[in-house]
Amino acid sequence: MKKLIFAANWKMHKSPSESRSFVKEVRSTCPESVHAQIILFPSSPCLEAVAESCKGSQIRYGSQNCHFEAQGAFTGEVSPRVVKELGAQVGLVGHSERRTLFGESNELIAQKVAALQKLEMTPMLCIGESLKQREENLTNDVLRDQLFECLRLADLRLPLIVAYEPVWAIGTGKVATPAQVADAHLECRKILAQIGSEDAAQKIPVLYGGSVKADNAKELGSLPNVDGFLIGGASLVVESFKAITAT
Ligand code: PGA
Repeated sequence: MKKLIFAANWKMHKSPSESRSFVKEVRSTCPESVHAQIILFPSSPCLEAVAESCKGSQIRYGSQNCHFEAQGAFTGEVSPRVVKELGAQVGLVGHSERRTLFGESNELIAQKVAALQKLEMTPMLCIGESLKQREENLTNDVLRDQLFECLRLADLRLPLIVAYEPVWAIGTGKVATPAQVADAHLECRKILAQIGSEDAAQKIPVLYGGSVKADNAKELGSLPNVDGFLIGGASLVVESFKAITAT
């Protein structure tokens, strides 16, 4: 059976103490064999609490955003170097909320992906179409543009994760159908092979995100090109997160 990745995007939820209790509960109730499949993305002020709580376990964690420079005069930004020192191995990049609410462009995202790879961290690059783009039959074009542009400076032989998250499914309760997910993931795999190589494309995990819950995770997780999930709302409560990891 394939080992899925279960990534939790907590967005701007949870305090340090709430983050600690979550990790503690996951560690004591989730089978240890599943820990290595878990990646937590707490908000930046909670990273240290998560780092301490994850010590001695195989649970990985990372930041939800970072700057492309390691340091400098960038008030309010998150340094990937600092996050790495806290033990983060992964960095979420290009989430649709960063793109739409904070104006992040593919060009900026490309620089962040490269910065993380330079620090030997794993970028988790989020891509996905809006409802309008899907209705206009532009999904594949959007995936192509986002992947080509955001991976312009990346080395596809280095660790990299892609998360396909249709914008219309994020936080809406509207999950993409298995056929839509299967098509989009196959398309991502083909595009990744064109950017890198067939071999590199096969090794890059492609996750699905957008209203993932225990009751849809089983079917979606069994699709051939789905290597795991990026989970928002359902990752906030240990019970629902655990139920997804048990699929
Ligand atoms: P959701 O969020 O699971 O609440 O739809 C997913 C995400 O934003 O990554």
